[in-house]
Amino acid sequence: MRLHGIYPQIDDVLVLGIETTAHTFGVGIADSNGNIFANTRSVYIPQKGGIHPREAAEHHVLHSAKVLKQAIDESGISIEEIDGIAASFGPGLGPCLRVGCTIARALAIALKKPLVEVNHCLAHIEIAKLDTGLVDPLVVYVSGGNTIISAYASGRYRIFGETLDIALGNCLDVFAREVGLGFPGVPAVEKCAEKGQNYIPLPYVVKGQDITYSGLLTAALEAVRKGAELKDVCLSLVETAYSMLVEVTERALVHTGKKGLILTGGLARSRKLRSMLKSIAEDHNVTFKPVSDEYAGDNGAMIAYTGALMLACGIRSKPEKSSIKQKWRLDEVDVPWMKKLLH
Ligand code: FE2
Repeated sequence: MRLHGIYPQIDDVLVLGIETTAHTFGVGIADSNGNIFANTRSVYIPQKGGIHPREAAEHHVLHSAKVLKQAIDESGISIEEIDGIAASFGPGLGPCLRVGCTIARALAIALKKPLVEVNHCLAHIEIAKLDTGLVDPLVVYVSGGNTIISAYASGRYRIFGETLDIALGNCLDVFAREVGLGFPGVPAVEKCAEKGQNYIPLPYVVKGQDITYSGLLTAALEAVRKGAELKDVCLSLVETAYSMLVEVTERALVHTGKKGLILTGGLARSRKLRSMLKSIAEDHNVTFKPVSDEYAGDNGAMIAYTGALMLACGIRSKPEKSSIKQKWRLDEVDVPWMKKLLH
């Protein structure tokens, strides 16, 4: 039981949060002190190919009642005790977002509780800060849908580097699928890379603080088609893709002067990426901590917790005026709880 969490200045509120930006239907119950009372989920795994938004949305509809009930049972809390209902309102896949947001609106109206619209990227950051105890770090958030390097400055989490096209996780997942390494792609590509011996030059594209992965993906697939050994292509792909991310992260560390570095999102499970980031952190005398596996991928607990922080700061929406935001950027969101902590 946490008594004060990492933001002791804010009130204690209890929120139920729903996550449906992509393949996960997740429900969490958490308070603004960082106590997680429930974190349940059901994950849609496509039969073949990538995530089909409509099929994923159907999965979410189908599993919603069961996962919600599991969360309430797991928490031992009655729904009347909950102070607010939160959901991921973006960024994400439209049909998937609509499921979670519709359920959240209906719950908020039926239970006469405030509704909180949570930014999914912000939630990945807040749960990682809670989990690691680093309160003002540089955050590397990498997953199948996002690749963002950010840190708090003047009221918001500002972006100090991001992908200009596809996400790092998406690059490795698509490669794995195309060459028959299956799903989940990232561990499969990393495992295959361990056997590689020869480095094949692939496009290393860093533009200022931004990176692009689609050219790298195309070139890696092309190398396989031309007969290069798969293990060598995997080695080169992983080394190139991670090095690009680490290069901009290191510059962002120096630029922001932050003393902590966090890795969050689905790729936080990657031991290889962890070790590369740890190494630059040590070079700069910075504490490096990855989020734990439980909170690395999409989950309802991060939405509930971030929703609780928002609600404690008076941020709420009218259900009839709320709407999903498929391209909602992290740096459009105010984070008053950080202002209260640092100013
Ligand atoms: Fe995510």
